[in-house]
Amino acid sequence: MSEKATLTYDGKSYEYPVIVGTENERAIDIAQLRAQTGMITLDDGYSNTGSCVSNITFIDGEQGILRYRGYPIEQLAEHSTFIETAYLIIFGELPTEKQLAEFRNLLVEHMFIHEAMRHHFEGFPASAPPMAILSAMINTMGCFDPLLTQPEDPARFLEASARLISRVRTIAAAAYKKSVGDPIIYPRFDLSYTANFLHMLFCKPNRICRPDPAVERAMDQIFILHADHEQNCSTSTVRMVGSSQANLYASVAAGVCALWGPLHGGANVAVIEMLENIHQSGETIPNFMTKIKDKKAHARLMGFGHRVYKNYDPRAKFIKQSCDAVLSKLGIKDPLLDIALQLEEIAVKDPYFVERKLYPNVDFYSGIIMRAVGIPMNMFTVLFAIGRLPGWIANWREVHLSPQARIYRPRQVYNGPTVRQYVPIGARA
Ligand code: SDX
Repeated sequence: MSEKATLTYDGKSYEYPVIVGTENERAIDIAQLRAQTGMITLDDGYSNTGSCVSNITFIDGEQGILRYRGYPIEQLAEHSTFIETAYLIIFGELPTEKQLAEFRNLLVEHMFIHEAMRHHFEGFPASAPPMAILSAMINTMGCFDPLLTQPEDPARFLEASARLISRVRTIAAAAYKKSVGDPIIYPRFDLSYTANFLHMLFCKPNRICRPDPAVERAMDQIFILHADHEQNCSTSTVRMVGSSQANLYASVAAGVCALWGPLHGGANVAVIEMLENIHQSGETIPNFMTKIKDKKAHARLMGFGHRVYKNYDPRAKFIKQSCDAVLSKLGIKDPLLDIALQLEEIAVKDPYFVERKLYPNVDFYSGIIMRAVGIPMNMFTVLFAIGRLPGWIANWREVHLSPQARIYRPRQVYNGPTVRQYVPIGARA
């Protein structure tokens, strides 16, 4: 017998079905609430509100569990590759060898951006934030792929997904080259997805460089760990825009803009800036932590806390381990890592953080690895976007394939001026 929830208001009782997910999460289906009661719910920041039923990613914030299509993130980060994980997230199953080979071939076939798009980079100032360029050029890609911006049939969707995943990497590297005044480097046919990205980022026409395999693997794992994360701000944005039947490229371009914010994907930059400020100012860790806990300072320990995780973010755990491995392999001793470790050591015992269940999140250590491999700071959030692309594509598709695909249109509680009459300008005070 299906479960029900009862709401009692103004002497009346109303019953609503309880939806139970495959991991026994429960939600009250209030689809009939306003029709029956004339009321809506209000939930600032959507902390208690589910926007959809989804079968892509599962998070248990209390246990610190993250699974893509049922596979634990730890196993995928350890054994899979970003391209195989992207296929899993987008199409729902781990690919066969044949499927993976076909997907890889599509990525290779579509790794060049249209030559005319290269000239768009001339119009950006060197100071243009790469996230702005990324969002703009994804929409520009749509101008060159008119048939693919509404990829309804499976074959066109597969190609659109491959084009986006492959070319966003090329656009990102070109955006960086533009910012440093270097010539844009073309991708190569003989390199893996991530090695090609590093090649386009770091190589020059007169210097062929082959990325260090340890660096390539660490970056590939960073992409895997960022590949999806249920209804986070940027993914919800992609779903919101996609729900209006906006095309895949426009919806993903909107997701890039949402990710940019320092409370979301921009936190990996904010963490490094925070650690650098502590390092350069010589401020002691205890003094810094006192400031963080002082509400009047309106400061936050960037890279800590999470709307869903009230336990250690499993991605942060993996990246922290990878940090040690990559820095020792590269023979790098980064004082910022020492500061981060001290901050974590203090925070996990400090009642302020413990009571609020604030733990390191995916952004706390990721910037340290990217810094160690030479990724410039203005590219940190761009790498987050490259990693998150499969999740955005899968969620956009889920909205489009939903049988009751409806435009997302939340309600509100109005508390502005009540009705009043127009006053001609001459009669205004
Ligand atoms: C990502 O949603 C996702 O899944 C996101 C993401 C993904 O993969 O897509 O995981 C990626 O965005 C990770 C988060 C990166 N952002 C940061 O690291 C920025 C720092 N963290 C915070 O600003 C904050 O923790 C958020 C934004 C992540 C979550 O904020 P919430 O859920 O709105 O929490 P809140 O602001 O209501 O805080 C609850 C309490 C408050 O104190 P009180 O008012 O109860 O006294 O905790 C405090 C906050 O002041 N608090 C912090 C804090 N985060 C929350 N205090 C100090 N430092 C922090 N980082």
